[in-house]
Amino acid sequence: MKKLGILVSGKGSNMTAIINACEEGYLPAKVEVVISSNPKAGALEIAKEKNIKTVHYGTFQNENLEEIDLSVCKVLCDSKVDFVLLAGFMKKVGRTVLTKFKGRILNVHPSLLPKHGGKGFYGLNVHRAVIDAGDQKSGATIHLVSEEYDEGTILAQKSVIVDPKDTPELLAAKILKIEHVLYVETVKEIIEANIKI
Ligand code: GAR
Repeated sequence: MKKLGILVSGKGSNMTAIINACEEGYLPAKVEVVISSNPKAGALEIAKEKNIKTVHYGTFQNENLEEIDLSVCKVLCDSKVDFVLLAGFMKKVGRTVLTKFKGRILNVHPSLLPKHGGKGFYGLNVHRAVIDAGDQKSGATIHLVSEEYDEGTILAQKSVIVDPKDTPELLAAKILKIEHVLYVETVKEIIEANIKI
C-alpha cells in the first residue's frame, strides 16, 4: 500500500478522484496528507470530511518560499509519502521537495503539453489559449514535475476534439472529466510499476 501526499490550490476535483479511487480499492494507496497553497481552497474541506490530514501555507506562518519548501517537505516526510501528486496546484514546487521526491512527483495539466503550458498557463487561461490558437484538439497531460512549470517528462496524454462552439468553460469541463480518469489510471500504473519513472 503506497502513501500519497496531494498538493492543491483550488476545488480539488482531481484530488477527490484520487481519494475515491483509493477508498474504492482501485488504487492500492492511501492519501496521507493534503497540502494547500491556499487556505480557502475547497479541496481542504473535502479532505477534512474524509478525515485526511490537511495543512495549508498559512499554517507555516512564513512568507519565505525557501522556508515554505522546507516545511512542505517536512510534512510530506513526516507522513512518509511515497508519491506527491499535484492536483490543481498553482505554485512552483520548491527545490527541497523536488530533490527529496525526485521522479515521484506528478502533475495533471489541462492541455496537450508541450502546447499551452508554462508560467501563466493554468485554469481557464489554458483553454482560452487553445481556442484563440484555433486548435482542433486539446486534452489532458500527466507529467513528472521538474523545476520549470509543465516541463517534466510526459507520462500520459488523452485528447478531446475542440468543438467550434466550445467556450473556455465548456472546454475546461470536458477536459476535467478526462483528467480524473487519466490521472487515476496513470497513478495506478506507476504504483503497480508498469511504467518506469
Ligand atoms: C484542473 O483542470 C487542472 O488540470 C488545472 O487546474 C484544474 C484544477 O481543478 N491545473 C493547472 O492548470 C496546472 N497548471 P481541480 O482543483 O478541480 O482538480
